[in-house]
Amino acid sequence: MITTKSQYDAMFSGVIGQDYDTLNLICPLATEMSRLVGIAVSDYAAKTTGNLSVVELGGGTGITTLSLLTASDKLSILSIDNEPVMQEQAKKHLSKWITEGKLTFSGDDALTALKNIAADSVDIVASAYTLHNFLDSYRKEVMQQIFRILKPGGQFINGDRYGLDDISKHTRTIQEEVSGYFKVLTRINKLDVLEHWIVHLFNDESENHVMRETAALDQLRDAGFSEIKLAHRLEVNALVTAVKP
Ligand SMILES: C[S@@+](CC[C@H](N)C(=O)[O-])C[C@H]1O[C@@H](n2cnc3c(N)ncnc32)[C@H](O)[C@@H]1O
Repeated sequence: MITTKSQYDAMFSGVIGQDYDTLNLICPLATEMSRLVGIAVSDYAAKTTGNLSVVELGGGTGITTLSLLTASDKLSILSIDNEPVMQEQAKKHLSKWITEGKLTFSGDDALTALKNIAADSVDIVASAYTLHNFLDSYRKEVMQQIFRILKPGGQFINGDRYGLDDISKHTRTIQEEVSGYFKVLTRINKLDVLEHWIVHLFNDESENHVMRETAALDQLRDAGFSEIKLAHRLEVNALVTAVKP
């Protein structure tokens, strides 16, 4: 049972972080977003020569990081995640790339880590299923920092929960998602995980967190990005790419 406030704050510690694989059972589209981010990074790498510097936001247990690492052998990745329960799993899963010097980690929160990176120094900022967790005011600052650290021509690539502008349709989609959580997690008797994901979903869906499509794309435009594209819409998920001119 959830008993303390700190468990609500650090949503990827505790049960969710320890049993993160269950997300793939209740929300296979989250894993699909990591795959799509990898393909977009691979397409970018194919058009360039030389090594590419990549910053990953919210590396988690390493699902998206692995998709990036296998997208191209030209990448040097800094994976940022401020939840040790998650990041320690990534370090274990991805030790081969750490040893090869292709992968390093930061345990700072995204905004702090980004502020410590030099302007115009990064080719790609990639992320999956992370930015929707941010408070909208924090996300705005993160987007500005992403723009600052990218080189001209650098790309932002994010597979994430981009809420539907049609709020009624969005609500119906979320209701179906919640039904799915119950069906899958009661069948395998993971009631503690079910409880934590439902609590987490309330955070994702709250007015000051939800990353609705038009507002999110406007936020990228306001930060200075061009060539802003939303593709692969799958229920409340989509792949967004944008270029620093
Ligand atoms: C849903 S997981 C996604 C992990 C991975 N990208 C994937 O798709 O499996 C979100 C991750 O973002 C991290 N996270 C959330 N807020 C963060 C912040 N402000 N700074 C850094 N990491 C954060 C969490 O700790 C968590 O590991």
